[in-house]
Amino acid sequence: MNGVVTLGEFIIETQSDFPDAKGDLTKVLSAIRLAAKIVNREVTKAGLVDIIGTEGNTNVQGEEQQKLDVYANEQFISAIKGQKAVCGIGSEEMESFMSLENETGDGKYIFLMDPLDGSSNIDVNVSVGTIFSIYRKKSAGSVCEDDFLQPGIKQVAAGYVIYGSSTMLVYTTGHGVNGFTLDPSIGVFCLSHPNMRIPDEGIYYSINEGNYINFPEGVKKFIKHCQEPDEKTNRPYQSRYIGSLVSDFHRNLIKGGIYMYPPTSKYNHGKLRLMYECNPLAFIAEQAGGLASDGYRRIMSILPEEIHQRSPLFIGSRKMVEKAENFLNRYQ
Ligand code: AHG
Ligand code: MN
Ligand code: MN
Repeated sequence: MNGVVTLGEFIIETQSDFPDAKGDLTKVLSAIRLAAKIVNREVTKAGLVDIIGTEGNTNVQGEEQQKLDVYANEQFISAIKGQKAVCGIGSEEMESFMSLENETGDGKYIFLMDPLDGSSNIDVNVSVGTIFSIYRKKSAGSVCEDDFLQPGIKQVAAGYVIYGSSTMLVYTTGHGVNGFTLDPSIGVFCLSHPNMRIPDEGIYYSINEGNYINFPEGVKKFIKHCQEPDEKTNRPYQSRYIGSLVSDFHRNLIKGGIYMYPPTSKYNHGKLRLMYECNPLAFIAEQAGGLASDGYRRIMSILPEEIHQRSPLFIGSRKMVEKAENFLNRYQ
């Protein structure tokens, strides 16, 4: 293990980024690290559980088989509860927020998550993820909805786990972005991608083109721009769409690119959730030198009105997101 920095060591070393820190954020990050390993174990044997579970309704642990997104939700909640630093949890999988005040006393953090992103990809052995976001509680009294309805710029930390050909945890506390790869033989996340930067201009565009007919005119024109040959800007760009936001975002973060989920006829505010998907990835994108927009506004400046609110999303390489915004403004 010579020269290797583990996630545990890194979290402690960087605690001094927060002069007033009492170790509570460290506790939350440690809980995420633990839950990520447990969910990873389950994701990697998802195919097996199906085979074993066909005769009865029990899985290898002798319990009723749970859908992985419910399982992931439970694992993250129980790890977070264990650390007593969070007073409330909001999740894509829960109708309203959960107060932990009776269980964790005066935890000062708010935790939001998409416990399993891209769940339609589990059955076909394609990468899925977990996305999380951490805020400070802002009200003085009992935890309330207002504590959750904060704009993305108020995030203290955010990140994602990608359960892929290798499992990675990528996060930011507002001091750059760092990526850790799980070494499965010892069960430890090791710093593999220090100070991640997204290229200013990329080679990929990622969008569900099946919805093309109903896209706003500016998006249609931007897609045509991506497809037009132009040597100077490396066009035509290549199209890549996995259907797991975390995976599409992760690829574009490393290689450069833009991910788009515009309004469609089915989802007229876009499909993705502002609090669980857009804001945390926007924080990562900006910290890596990229941008995140709803087409007209910075994602992290949007004042949320509702915890499950949806938003259009244009995220990735700075110049590509700016270009997409230009097209949207030009063709209203
Ligand atoms: P989730 O599995 O958490 O509901 O998220 C699915 C999201 C996102 O991961 C993905 O990019 C997008 O939905 C795909 O939607 P389409 O199938 O409409 O393209
Ligand atoms: Mn999702
Ligand atoms: Mn989900």
